[in-house]
Amino acid sequence: MAPLPMADLPSAQSPSAAKSPSAGGSGSRPSPAILMCPPDYYGIEYEINPWMSRSRQSDPERSRQQWAALQALLQQLGAEIRLLEPVRGLPDLVFTANAALVVRNTIYLARFRYPARQPETAVDELWFREQGFDCITLPDRWSFEGAGDALFCGDTLFGGYVIRSDAGALHWLGGQIGCRTLPLQLVDQYYYHLDTCFCPLSDTEALYFPPAFDEYAQRSLTEAIPGLIAIAPEEAQRFACNAVVVGRHVVINTGCPRLEIDLRTHGYTPHSTELDEFIKAGGSAKCLTLRLDGEEAARWP
Ligand code: ARG
Repeated sequence: MAPLPMADLPSAQSPSAAKSPSAGGSGSRPSPAILMCPPDYYGIEYEINPWMSRSRQSDPERSRQQWAALQALLQQLGAEIRLLEPVRGLPDLVFTANAALVVRNTIYLARFRYPARQPETAVDELWFREQGFDCITLPDRWSFEGAGDALFCGDTLFGGYVIRSDAGALHWLGGQIGCRTLPLQLVDQYYYHLDTCFCPLSDTEALYFPPAFDEYAQRSLTEAIPGLIAIAPEEAQRFACNAVVVGRHVVINTGCPRLEIDLRTHGYTPHSTELDEFIKAGGSAKCLTLRLDGEEAARWP
């Protein structure tokens, strides 16, 4: 990966700048902490979304390079990357976004819809417990796929449902956390997780791909978020909405020129990095990360 031009780098953050331990404190925040899992055992071993085809295998070497470039880029933007150890036989463990919803020190563990991913939860839970987080398991009548389907924009928790997570789980989470939840019905199997079609940038701005939502959800989004940026279909297909926000920097897959212009217009600096090996499994930048200290847009209650 080419080094970042200096002008695009964030100003140096010293650890002493860290103040509030909670997301959304006004002023300075601790340096961002992001959980990632190296793609040692990543591959297309089953098909649980329309992007996946066992006949279109990922290339292990390219996957490793793309993952490492993403990690390096996030580090250059000031993020501390924490690592989950990969496990043979769990190819999708790389998509740490699905491990859980993080709210301060509490981890709401995923309950995966498909049996193929269910064994990931024990691995995730062990890691979170070792790090001192409190882990909560949802009632077993619901599926819930972590930050893939639950994203704060301001103090509201936006939840994607039907395809992977259940609306009941989102309401239950809102009650536990004590926040407003806005369940959004996803209607396109290609955009099966909320983070494939929606990305909060700040408490008032978000990227979204309108056709991925039912009409009611589209209306809820327009009413709730004043600064919505609609993504074009050809860029949504390149996972434009699956972005990682670090301060005013936004990391995305390559091939999203319109989004890059829109981001700059809104005062953000886009950074694109090739992630097509992961799109073969239906994931991109955001899916490969889990923000542990609260997303930029989150205002935890
Ligand atoms: N193959 C994985 C699945 O279908 C990809 C998960 C992508 N993660 C995400 N947060 N969208 O579950």
